[in-house]
Amino acid sequence: MTFSASVIGASGFTGGELLRLLDGHPQFEITQATSRKYSGRSVGYTHPNLRDLKLKYSSPEKLEPVDVLFVATPHGVSMSKIDAFSEASNVVVDLSADFRLKDPLKYDEYYDGHSCPELLEKAVYGLPEIHRDDLKSAKLIACGGCNSTVTILGLYPLFKSGLLTLEDIIVADIKVGSSEGGASRSTSSHHAIRSGIVRPYAPISHRHEAEIEQELGAKVAFTVHAVDMIRGAAATCHIFPTKQDLSKSLLWKAYLDSYGEEPFVRLLSGTGGNYRYPEPKVVAGTNNVEIAFEIDERNNRIVVFSAIDNMMKGSAGQAIHAANIAFGIDETIGLSHRSLHPTGAP
Ligand SMILES: NC(=O)c1ccc[n+]([C@@H]2O[C@H](COP(=O)([O-])OP(=O)(O)OC[C@H]3O[C@@H](n4cnc5c(N)ncnc54)[C@H](OP(=O)(O)O)[C@@H]3O)[C@@H](O)[C@H]2O)c1
Repeated sequence: MTFSASVIGASGFTGGELLRLLDGHPQFEITQATSRKYSGRSVGYTHPNLRDLKLKYSSPEKLEPVDVLFVATPHGVSMSKIDAFSEASNVVVDLSADFRLKDPLKYDEYYDGHSCPELLEKAVYGLPEIHRDDLKSAKLIACGGCNSTVTILGLYPLFKSGLLTLEDIIVADIKVGSSEGGASRSTSSHHAIRSGIVRPYAPISHRHEAEIEQELGAKVAFTVHAVDMIRGAAATCHIFPTKQDLSKSLLWKAYLDSYGEEPFVRLLSGTGGNYRYPEPKVVAGTNNVEIAFEIDERNNRIVVFSAIDNMMKGSAGQAIHAANIAFGIDETIGLSHRSLHPTGAP
């Protein structure tokens, strides 16, 4: 059985990634790809890897009815157009932040308010590792942010298992690539300026903090650095636990209990081979998350490493994974390819 799918905001980075994944998916068929700027042009005009796709951009003002609508537009668009989106499709998968938070007051605190707060309860946060059952009947799916996704997935088993408490101090340090900023240029994203950087941005009060707190039920002090890669988000989380005697075997049990059956989670032991800890480059182009941890007894610290491709597990891959679940399709279909190795910068 195949399902029709459209991508709103298809000329952007995550929109292009959605088209790439949908094109290779045996059970989704692309009906419409929208762009205001490039309406009438072929999708290969903006996405050279999709040159051979016989598909032209159309205006987002006229939506065709479809089984699933993927929305890859900037924050604020989905909430303002949700009536039109829901009219076009029973299932809306939104990649923006518009429906991620349950508490409308958090939109006042971290964003610029919300225009349809009554829908927030209906939306399901798009991470299958946490919300698989709810995704099965979801009509509005809110995919997580890339920085939040890499942090949440790294820490989730420790909270689920009760090994961490609300009193524990957790500091998350994130490094992220330039594709996170989307396809439109700014002075600070100009290649001559951005190349070679390790630049802290939003060092405190990053918007994704709100999602992390919501999904983990705990505060995480969070700082993001823009670094010199194109794809990828890597989190290093430093945890100073109040519980003593947290052995490696207890931690392994927690991670295996949460992720032992997860098709896209790779737990690394930190031993053996040249690539012992998670690296964005290794997961680039895949829907995988790699996770590893160490215990630093001298400093009473646990350190957790996690890495994803921001445009895959951190957005478009997550969206397809969630849609697979919502449509009762085998979860891994369209997402099971491996990364390239060796390859250039991710
Ligand atoms: N990049 C990432 O790694 C990443 C990760 C997680 C989540 N996200 C989220 O995913 C969303 C898309 O991100 P992106 O990086 O793909 O952004 P992008 O490259 O800037 O693309 C945005 C797209 O939205 C379209 N658009 C803009 N305003 C619109 C409007 N009012 N109505 C209809 N279409 C509109 C743009 O095309 P036209 O102007 O031609 O219409 C463009 O195709 C954002 O909300 C972002 O926060 C991104």
